[in-house]
Amino acid sequence: RRDVGRITTGSKNVDELIGGGIETQSITEVFGEFGSGKSQISHELAVTVQLPKERGGLEGECVFIDTENTFRPERIEQIADACGIDREEALQRIHIARAFNSSHQILMAEKINELIQSGVNVRLVIVDSLMAHFRAEYVGRESLATRQQKLNQHLHALQQIANTYNVAVFLTNQVQARPDAFFGSPTKAIGGHVLGHASTYRIWLKKGLAGKRIARLVDSPHLPEGEAVFKVTTDGIVD
Ligand code: GTP
Repeated sequence: RRDVGRITTGSKNVDELIGGGIETQSITEVFGEFGSGKSQISHELAVTVQLPKERGGLEGECVFIDTENTFRPERIEQIADACGIDREEALQRIHIARAFNSSHQILMAEKINELIQSGVNVRLVIVDSLMAHFRAEYVGRESLATRQQKLNQHLHALQQIANTYNVAVFLTNQVQARPDAFFGSPTKAIGGHVLGHASTYRIWLKKGLAGKRIARLVDSPHLPEGEAVFKVTTDGIVD
């Protein structure tokens, strides 16, 4: 693949786990229970993508598709401060798209093509969270096939943007805590097989002791499975 770019998560441990940061031309999915740090990593990446290459960024801009109203500008300001970049400029390089329902979410992803064609240097697309609307709207067995078909359409559009414009796609996905977590198969994230096949990298987040978080790489075709420890701080994601 031509000139794959990488974006730092802010944690060297996590970057190493996934081969040096999240990759362009790929879809990276993080899944985990409530409070495991999915939105925090999203905010971190929205800032670090703006950094120069030697600091782990791509000097690029970000589209943040926010489905649950989790985007916090003041969090971006804190992370920008910690990275030594201007708050206002950092916020201006993050294009917030609030998705009111799943159709709107699908449409907004497709519209990223136009934004890029108008000259905006988008290098990262975040969807936080991928499944919330789909899960709420398509309830029950009889709607499962439709849901998966729509989800497939959405993921296909995201993959197309990733490939066409050398963009990284980062998805968050909430899952329930399981008592056998880390010992059995963790891959029962909501989304089922469609999502399992689309994501190139899948990272399972878990709360650890003393405010620590554990990231585990699962189902990666190229990299060994492993774990990394990180923390969520006021400055953002750190080792
Ligand atoms: P849901 O969106 O609730 O499903 O979970 P999530 O995995 O997205 O959680 P999120 O990324 O929002 O992580 C929330 C956790 O991050 C909180 O419980 C805090 O521990 C931590 N956190 C969030 N903001 C700050 C902050 O400003 N400072 C510090 N030190 N920790 C923070």
